[in-house]
Amino acid sequence: MSGEQTASVPPTDRVQIFDTTLRDGEQSPGISLNTEEKVEIAEQLGRLSVDVIEAGFPITSPGDFEAVQAIARAVEGPVICGLARTHKADIDAAWNAIRDSERPRIHTFISTSDIHIEHQLQTDREDVKGQARAAVALARSLCEDVEFSPMDATRADVEFTAEVCAIAVAEGAGVINIPDTVGYTTPEEYTRYLRRLYELVPGLEDVTLSVHCHDDLGLAVANSYAGLLAGARQVECAVNGIGERAGNCSLEEIVMLLRTRRGEHGLDTEVDARELARTSRMVSRRTGYVIQPNKAIVGRNAFAHESGIHQDGVLKERTTYEIMDPTTVGLESNSIVLGKHSGRHALRDALEQLGFKVEGGALNQAFKRFKEIADKKKQVTALDLEAIVSDEMRERTDSYGLAWFEVEAGSRREPNARVAIRIPSGEESVGQASGDGPVDAIFGAIRDAVEADSELRSYTVSAVTEGEDALGEVTVMLHAHGRLASGQGVATDILEASARAYVRALSNALDGAAVREAEGLTADAAQLPTTPGP
Ligand code: KIV
Ligand code: ZN
Repeated sequence: MSGEQTASVPPTDRVQIFDTTLRDGEQSPGISLNTEEKVEIAEQLGRLSVDVIEAGFPITSPGDFEAVQAIARAVEGPVICGLARTHKADIDAAWNAIRDSERPRIHTFISTSDIHIEHQLQTDREDVKGQARAAVALARSLCEDVEFSPMDATRADVEFTAEVCAIAVAEGAGVINIPDTVGYTTPEEYTRYLRRLYELVPGLEDVTLSVHCHDDLGLAVANSYAGLLAGARQVECAVNGIGERAGNCSLEEIVMLLRTRRGEHGLDTEVDARELARTSRMVSRRTGYVIQPNKAIVGRNAFAHESGIHQDGVLKERTTYEIMDPTTVGLESNSIVLGKHSGRHALRDALEQLGFKVEGGALNQAFKRFKEIADKKKQVTALDLEAIVSDEMRERTDSYGLAWFEVEAGSRREPNARVAIRIPSGEESVGQASGDGPVDAIFGAIRDAVEADSELRSYTVSAVTEGEDALGEVTVMLHAHGRLASGQGVATDILEASARAYVRALSNALDGAAVREAEGLTADAAQLPTTPGP
């Protein structure tokens, strides 16, 4: 009973992890990752040792194409996959974006459910078969490794889906992925469906069967697990379970389910589970999707024991109430502690241990920030460092930045704030506002300085570590210029963290709007591609 990686897995029991954080995950509302952030996440996914990274959907925008291409060029190890509908233009774009990878894959899809065929594609079954055949053939003429998905398969006629999958296999697809696109199926039903496909699709046992489950009924992990037990050997999942609507199967949950219960089913992955917690924090910070405290595996309370009986048991013997050791998923494993006397070298070494290569100007900036924080906090831990460096990496000189703020507040007067914002030209713009409270006044002053309208959608404050002097981390999600965007900020002072988070969210919304304008799109057309996607 352990989460530790055990002896190597026989090839027949080895489950491939197909990570779609940067594609299906990135489709979650409010997520706006730029190329640099996507490459950073992809590199971390490489350290986590996932097998496949679905890096994006290149036809959807020049920005998406550029990010997929940058990942294909930068990230070694995993297969780099680009998504494409069955259209020639999609497949060409996917191929051009991934072709520089050592191990490229094209993933093409078309719906097989009648609901989608009639209402969305507005075509018929024969046409779907023809499109699937042509798309897989074209993809195979460009790339050795091709995956095919019959979208909305679990609501489709299994016989018809089998016919389409048989065509894809015959045309050379090496992976057949069966999506539960709307999160509708159940473990028993999915098992029956996949078993039936094995009966109906000639050659299915010679290719990799894959599962892709959404969490609308909270069954994504259970359904994926059922699919693996039925014979699938690839699972599509996303870090922290992000994705369309209720999200995808959570990567950390399926990985630890397989590892912890390996004795039961024999299946396992090659994932380095000690990287799970850090990957989860990185994705949460970059996407602005806060992790609920009781989230399995990576939630703040996933290993916390509150009741006296449980605490007593764990103190006597950890396994009384713990089925996994938190250190095996990378929680509480790092003992780095720096203080205000630590120098630049110590900081660089500590950052290296955490997987950040910070040199030159970036190191100077990180050191300055570290000193400011070490002056206010007795001990700077690994979690603090990770938060500070991530925060510094978000600071961009070509966008809006917080220069300074001042706020007057109290229970007997109306709060009033003045804020100076560094605008992209390098000048400062000062804004002023009063509000319901100091945070509201600061947000109003930022809007005044940037001369932008925006509506706050959510505001979350959390502490990076425990203790009274903990760093505060604020996540803001807002709606501006026709799009949802998020931003985060870290500081010992919650008001400063709030101001940073708000400025970043606003910058992300404005940048996103500018990119769309440059790409000739209106805000309403943000949900590319123009014909329906997954
Ligand atoms: O949910 C879905 O059907 C998808 C496909 C593109 C695999 O994301
Ligand atoms: Zn999906």
